[in-house]
Amino acid sequence: MIDKSQFGQMPDGQIIDSYILTNNNGMSVEILTLGAIIRSWRLATDPSVDIVLGFDNATDYLSDQSYLGRTVGRYANRIKDGEFKIADKSYSVSTNLQGNCLHGGVEGFHNRLWSVVNTEDDLYPSITLNLTSEDGDQGFPGTLNLDVTFSLDQEDRLTIEYHALSNQDTVFNPTQHSYFNLAGHNSGTIFDQQIQLSANNYTPADENAIPTGEIKPVNETAFDLRQPTSFGQAINRQDQAIKAANGLDHNWCVEGFSAAQDKLQWVADVIEPKSGRILITHTTMPGVQIYTGNFIGEATLGKNNIKYAPYHGFCIESQFYPNSPNQAEFPSATLPANTPFVSKTSYQIKQKSQQ
Ligand code: GLA
Repeated sequence: MIDKSQFGQMPDGQIIDSYILTNNNGMSVEILTLGAIIRSWRLATDPSVDIVLGFDNATDYLSDQSYLGRTVGRYANRIKDGEFKIADKSYSVSTNLQGNCLHGGVEGFHNRLWSVVNTEDDLYPSITLNLTSEDGDQGFPGTLNLDVTFSLDQEDRLTIEYHALSNQDTVFNPTQHSYFNLAGHNSGTIFDQQIQLSANNYTPADENAIPTGEIKPVNETAFDLRQPTSFGQAINRQDQAIKAANGLDHNWCVEGFSAAQDKLQWVADVIEPKSGRILITHTTMPGVQIYTGNFIGEATLGKNNIKYAPYHGFCIESQFYPNSPNQAEFPSATLPANTPFVSKTSYQIKQKSQQ
């Protein structure tokens, strides 16, 4: 089932719509045309539990600095100094954090109004949103046309598919920036939720979260999350880089990534111990940024006037490694002209007993 309603307005008066996708089990995910945002994700077993952070109105989304629920682009995470080269041609893109480009720059994709180009509701509900990013948008080369499809299947899996095409060589790195809290968006910190990653390696970074270029084994480091570890424990590990970031905000290398990007690999499980709820993430992308909401503003008023604060949600952002355009050894984020880009990431909810 798909329910469409009006959510709000853009500053210029254009209408922002909300689409609620409900599968046969009764689970629902709400998508906004603003920012291709996931605004809510309610469980079939208990619709009062909403596992993503969000806002009740457009104004709050438009002033949000934390990218709640956004589709992020053109380049998720950081490009050092906002500079890179493609085939010896230098580009300079919008910088918005410590002199670096974060999440596509000042006017990334996250506050754009997307258009709905398709909805389907046969086997299970799905919606496709489209955005055109013009040549030179935030300094990035090439006109890029992007479709993002969200589908919610019978196994309570939300699959997000990105299809893009650029008319010039460019760099492209889309992601989803939902903040999950498996106990519910209104239940405070995520410290007792446990994360497990399929990642034998990570990319160490400097104090501004720019990778040094190394790909380092997690073995005997604070970044070994191969066994279930509570976020509280992980954040409190004695490590300079974790301290510098106020928590987890790092990129891990997804095991089994193939350059053809044709296979979804399991990368993360997060378990909420009280309910036994598990979020299972798969992706075709080479990396994943695990972010524990370290910088959520203390005074953020979210849905139903719930006060959000640091560590009230975690993000699992599938991605090319940060700053890949300047690291020839990393999987390439270059999208050649007129070459279709496809990537997929899925998030599935299960109960522990079902696993
Ligand atoms: C990513 C970045 C963080 C932060 C959040 C949004 O996870 O790595 O530093 O910018 O997005 O606030």
